[in-house]
Amino acid sequence: MATILKNFIVFEGLDGAGTTTQMQLLAEACDRQNRLCKATFEPTDKPLGRLVRSILKKQIVTTPLALALLYAADREDHLHNPIYGLVADLEAGKIVISDRYLYSSLAYQSVECDFERIASLNDFPSPEYIFFIDTPIEECIRRIAVRGDEAELFERSEFLSQVKENYERIFASLDEGITLVRIDGTLTKEEIALQVRKTLFSE
Ligand code: TYD
Repeated sequence: MATILKNFIVFEGLDGAGTTTQMQLLAEACDRQNRLCKATFEPTDKPLGRLVRSILKKQIVTTPLALALLYAADREDHLHNPIYGLVADLEAGKIVISDRYLYSSLAYQSVECDFERIASLNDFPSPEYIFFIDTPIEECIRRIAVRGDEAELFERSEFLSQVKENYERIFASLDEGITLVRIDGTLTKEEIALQVRKTLFSE
């Protein structure tokens, strides 16, 4: 069983589900309450994460397994980089909030790669909380279209429906000690943020 990192909180969901907004709203709530926190995301904005993003934007073509390895390398760096690694922030007493974590790799990369292979690449510590923003696929696709950018690699409804099935399977067998909170992604962003704060801070 993987170690659980206390005060490590992750948001998961399909593309367009609203995880980035919720990561930001929670970070703002922590600031207002003078709780030290670090808000972060994967793929990161560091060199390995930028490489991943150029693959998502279809500027570089590679294989699904090469991409899975890069996501895992970016995650290892995100956790343990000697300058900005988040484990050091947790050890220093901060709450760390991440928009996506290893559950994204398990759900997305296992559409095209062997699940066990992806799981072994992602033998990283677990977060204390996972907030799953459960937004219907049609709504996600609508929001992606409204953004107006060219569709990224995974932003297709058939792909996202497989990702959704994978998330459900993964969440059905989470290790003990990890708290999974599923929130209806059709609620307003304020309502979702309130549910998150109720869970964490008993507001
Ligand atoms: P994200 O940055 O959340 O999307 P955007 O900012 O474009 O809304 O994530 C980028 C994409 O990468 C998204 O399709 C989910 C995917 N992803 C994986 O496939 N595996 C992973 O491990 C992670 C972290 C993300």
